[in-house]
Amino acid sequence: MKNLPSKIFIDGGDPAETYQAKKLLGYIDGQTTNPTLVAKNPQVSARLAAGKKFSRKEAYSFYKKVVRELDKIVDWSVSIEPYADARTSSQEIFEQAKEMSRWTDKAWIKFPTTLEGLKATRQAIKKGIRANMTLCFSQEQAAAVYASTQSKTRSDLVAERREKIFVSPFVGRLDDRGENGMQLIENILKMYQGSDGHVWVLTASVRNINHLFYALQLKSPIITVPFKIFRDWADRGFPIPDKSYQYHPQGLKPIPYKKILLDKPWSEYNLHHELTDIGIDKFSADWNAIVKG
Ligand code: E4P
Repeated sequence: MKNLPSKIFIDGGDPAETYQAKKLLGYIDGQTTNPTLVAKNPQVSARLAAGKKFSRKEAYSFYKKVVRELDKIVDWSVSIEPYADARTSSQEIFEQAKEMSRWTDKAWIKFPTTLEGLKATRQAIKKGIRANMTLCFSQEQAAAVYASTQSKTRSDLVAERREKIFVSPFVGRLDDRGENGMQLIENILKMYQGSDGHVWVLTASVRNINHLFYALQLKSPIITVPFKIFRDWADRGFPIPDKSYQYHPQGLKPIPYKKILLDKPWSEYNLHHELTDIGIDKFSADWNAIVKG
């Protein structure tokens, strides 16, 4: 099954699921985690059920332990997300990124697709830290990711020991509010056509098997799949959609393609999307819920 058009990641916070997925497919390219998913790990739930929360240090150690276990299972990449709420500065995000990137040689650090997030990313990639831009909800944000992380010279590239930057559009959360999230994937892939290829689209917030099928048909370079949907795919014998497959957005509002140039100064792109702000609030609240004080 290694000849899939996309790299397959598991979206979760429980290495036992990733291990099972690997047994089913034969390999797993990578893993995405986030504070919400790690807070749902069965060991966290058991501890909270016993009335014990984590100190901040314990919560980070637990996250690190989960990442180290994932490192042993996946072949290539583990995405790790620093804590960020609405007030977290780029410097604070960068400091966490430095620490978390030492947890595994396979680390990609998730930075929010915001002004502070992109500032932190630009600092990080200069230090050779790999980046996954998370909570992307618009083509304009994806253009800013491209422009802000592009190496202008060969020596930049060498200094950054550059590997692919990931951008993670969250399709399910757009669907949730009645918009056709998969169309954002189509649009970003189209916008990146003919570009230098340093940013890879990682289809995220996959909620059903049709998101997965369509992302495979579109050849999204990476797709991250929650174990439940992965299991569904496995139970069907891992089918790959052919040209005749048609994705039906079922009443979801279209997200029209915009002609956006990728070579503007990055700060000129509109980075705001309310779902990005809501996402940051939710990740930080879910993490704070497992931490005392
Ligand atoms: C991706 O990296 C995220 O962890 C994930 O796909 C979020 O999905 P959700 O919208 O189901 O929370």
